[in-house]
Amino acid sequence: MVNGTCFFSMTCKLLMEKAGISPGKGNYMDKALMLLNNLYSQNSLSKQETVYLLENMTGNVEEKLFEYSDITRKKYFGNRIFMRGLVEFSNICRQDCLYCGIRCSNKNADRYRLSLDEIIECCKTGYQLGYRTFVLQSGEDSWYTLEKLSCLLKSIKHKFPDAAVTLSIGEKTKDEYRTLFYSGADRYLLRHETASKKLYSKLHPSMDYNNRIKCLYNLKEIGYQVGAGFMVGLPGQTGSELAEDLLFLKKLNPHMIGIGPFFPHSRTPLKNESGGSLEDTLKMIALTRLFIPDSLLPATTAIGTLHPKGRELALKAGANVVMPNISPVDTRVKYELYENKICTADRASHCRKCIENRINHAGFEIDMGRGDSPRKEKRAAAPF
Ligand code: 5AD
Ligand code: FES
Repeated sequence: MVNGTCFFSMTCKLLMEKAGISPGKGNYMDKALMLLNNLYSQNSLSKQETVYLLENMTGNVEEKLFEYSDITRKKYFGNRIFMRGLVEFSNICRQDCLYCGIRCSNKNADRYRLSLDEIIECCKTGYQLGYRTFVLQSGEDSWYTLEKLSCLLKSIKHKFPDAAVTLSIGEKTKDEYRTLFYSGADRYLLRHETASKKLYSKLHPSMDYNNRIKCLYNLKEIGYQVGAGFMVGLPGQTGSELAEDLLFLKKLNPHMIGIGPFFPHSRTPLKNESGGSLEDTLKMIALTRLFIPDSLLPATTAIGTLHPKGRELALKAGANVVMPNISPVDTRVKYELYENKICTADRASHCRKCIENRINHAGFEIDMGRGDSPRKEKRAAAPF
């Protein structure tokens, strides 16, 4: 408190004056702007405030949100956008998420699995194109035993010692995560999908919300740079549930956060639902940038699929990572989490150039370095 006045409300007043808004009228527009200004300066809001902001985000509030998220990204990361090479190495999955095109119940999916040598070959192609982060993603495919994965990680780290490796292969035990970490995995992506326990249980009838969250905390404890994330526009998803996503992320404080629109896949039980909108997805990206300002936020393939300029718009809204595909062209179309995915016919070299042009056109520069989190801690030696 300064002379009986809260510092933040003073900051807020100043910001509002700068924005040409007269404070103190108490109408709903002013309140949403005031909350946005608080979020910008403090990087947090209560649940009630977040819901209010989400439900009253119109006109100049939205404009301000994107302005603030742009400034915040610039403040932490400058003009640079990190590039990661994505290898989708198997679409075989033991899980049955209601929304996902590669769920085990989809008997129509054309299944494939890359050998360890084929995965290494993708990394080699990526490395030659300049990538220094490989994201290895698959369904939950038990063919890749702990031994095989450890061997793969050691081999990639041996061949490309200056590259970071990110795994995105689903739920495992803490011991398994630990083994993979000490075999060379630097990062792990495991979207929480939705922070609403009720919605999570509906979408994942045979999975356990608590275990999902436990996995994320286990990964953090082990020392991974961790990525969580959620879908926007899930069937029945409310403003309050999206607020829960933001507050859950604030608490978990992951290094990376993947956000994309939900698409109803025609071969899933959610085929008749409507999907997430561009506007809502961009707003959630921008809000996430304000809640967790130093996070690595990808402009996802899903948002690029929703709109031809979706990835550029996501970057302008606060994202700072892109993950071009470096998987073999013949497998790309088969990794169909949702339909009409972009880049399925393009070679890795094409995607690399295409995305660089797009990033430059949008006013940013690419960064081909490892792109570690600014919060990355020094890696400890294996305790065994
Ligand atoms: N629409 C949008 N995103 C999807 N994902 C899976 N299925 C879909 C879909 N139908 C997302 C999930 C998953 C990530 C790899 O892809 O969030 O974690
Ligand atoms: Fe594979 Fe959900 S269907 S993890």
